[in-house]
Parts: sequence; C-alpha cells; structure tokens
Amino acid sequence: MHKKIVVLASGEGSNFTAIISSGIKIDKCITNNPKAGIIKRAQKVDVPCAVVDPADQHSHGIGWIERRILEEIPEDTDLIVLAGFMRILSPYFCEYWADKIINIHPSLLPAFAGTCHAIEEAYDHGVKVFGVTIHWVTPEIDAGPIIAQRAIHKFKDDKLEDIIKKVRSVEHYLYSKTIKEMLGLYI
Ligand code: GRF
Repeated sequence: MHKKIVVLASGEGSNFTAIISSGIKIDKCITNNPKAGIIKRAQKVDVPCAVVDPADQHSHGIGWIERRILEEIPEDTDLIVLAGFMRILSPYFCEYWADKIINIHPSLLPAFAGTCHAIEEAYDHGVKVFGVTIHWVTPEIDAGPIIAQRAIHKFKDDKLEDIIKKVRSVEHYLYSKTIKEMLGLYI
C-alpha cells in the first residue's frame, strides 16, 4: 500500500532530492521559507510544495504559522520527514503527530544537539569522529529516541569543507535507507 510522506524543509533541499532519487515517492513538501531551494527542486519533480511565509503572520497573530503548517499536512500522512526544517515545533504539534515525525541531525547525538552549526562546532572542538543521526521528533530539541546513526571518521588532511561533504553524502544515503526500512518499502 502507498505510504504518504510529507517533507518539511527550510533550506537547500538536498535531502529531499536524495530521498526522491532513491525511488521513494514524496507526496508533498512544506516550507516556511519563500526563498528555500526545495521549492525549485520540488517543482522539477512535480511534487506540490506549500509555502507558509512567516511574513504573512502579522495580521494573524501568534501560532498562525504552525496552524497553517498543520493544515497543509494531510490527515492520512504516514510519515513527516524534517529535512533542514528551521522552526521549533510546539509540544502540541509533536504530540499530535507522535511516532510519525522524524528528523536528521548532522552529529552523533546527543553530542552537538540543538544547534544549526553542529558540524562547524564539532570541527572547532577538535572532534575526530563526526556523524549523522536520524531520530524521532519529540518536544525536546534533537532529543527524541534514535532510529539510526552513522559515524564518519576525520582523516588527517580533512578540512571543514571535506567533513561537510562527507556528512551530507552520508545523510543522503542514510535518510533514504532508513525511510525505506521504516515504511517497509524494501521487498
Ligand atoms: C542537513 O544537514 C540536516 O542534517 C540539517 O539541515 C541540513 C539540511 O540540508 N538538519 P538540505 O536542505 O537537505 O540540503
């Protein structure tokens, strides 16, 4: 049976493209950034993309953005995939979609949780083993139960850009593989 997947993203959208390229069908994406790269990427592969623009919030008051995002998620969604979604979801949202939202974070959680610059901070810290974590989303940021993890060893000559490239490519592989396993898409 078809599994309905919705991606929430605010940025470039390289994970979105990697997931689609791995053969997974994404039904919809939602972004809170009208300039997000994912908008064009979604157009290219005919995936509807809803833009919830925070600039439109002023006349609607607090809570409007999240309400709009919730409205855009079909009730029969099987999995919500956060891929670089730069907005903290409320406890109400996390509980409403409990056990159906996952996130990817570019570190070996619980190390370097709660930051948008996890790779840079780990690099500055002199970390020798970087990584990627996929976890369930709960109201505590980057703290939900871990679903999958991969370690990435730093080589002697690796610069920050090299590590970022390695982390991205592991993210692309691991997110697709994990989603397929979770939704039973492998035969
Ligand atoms: C990824 O590094 C992900 O781990 C983090 O945000 C980034 C999103 O990249 N949460 P992209 O927009 O999928 O290219």
